[in-house]
Amino acid sequence: MSFVIRFATIEDTEFIRAIYNNAIKTSTATLETEERDSTTQRHWLTQHSGDPYPCFVAEDRDGIIAGWAALSPYNAKPGYRGAAENSVYVDTRAQGKGIGEALLQALLDDAPQRHIRTIVALISTDNLASISLHEKLGFRLVGTLERVGEKFGRDVDVSIFQRHLG
Ligand SMILES: CC(C)(COP(=O)(O)OP(=O)(O)OC[C@H]1O[C@@H](n2cnc3c(N)ncnc32)[C@H](O)[C@@H]1OP(=O)(O)O)[C@@H](O)C(=O)NCCC(=O)NCCS
Repeated sequence: MSFVIRFATIEDTEFIRAIYNNAIKTSTATLETEERDSTTQRHWLTQHSGDPYPCFVAEDRDGIIAGWAALSPYNAKPGYRGAAENSVYVDTRAQGKGIGEALLQALLDDAPQRHIRTIVALISTDNLASISLHEKLGFRLVGTLERVGEKFGRDVDVSIFQRHLG
């Protein structure tokens, strides 16, 4: 599949929202339970315009956004400013074609110039695809928070993965 990785723009709002809302509805990839509306998604994008937290998208040759990845603050306290948490979501129809890996690699390549020194990924322990992707790109398991989450009426364990940069 042919696609380009580029920074997200406000025009990408609805694509990003659709991909994320599908994950909210169908999976424990995110422990959000309420779908995002357009206003919330637009506001989120303005906070991920690259100063310092970026959002990348993968655009196919028809102009369709097949996936996105972003960095967000790991913790709002100033002493954590060198740490960021990552997100990566690929449209279910486009998974398994290298897009998630390309998006996550773009985040890793871009982060040092934003003075981000370490990236944290919080991954539900049943999300084997995401664990495998993160391990492939050098993230290491730090620990697992047991039954820290709940979704679809069951407990969710969340593993903390981390990748140091530079
Ligand atoms: C996890 C996700 C981002 C991977 O993106 P993708 O485009 O499907 O993955 P890629 O094709 O780039 O694959 C890259 C690597 O990821 C891993 N991977 C991807 N799909 C996998 C699967 N179904 N099972 C196991 N490992 C998988 C493999 O290590 C793969 O490397 P390989 O091809 O050399 O085996 C994607 O499946 C997704 O969006 N899932 C739902 C949302 C989600 O879980 N986001 C992460 C929240 S923490």
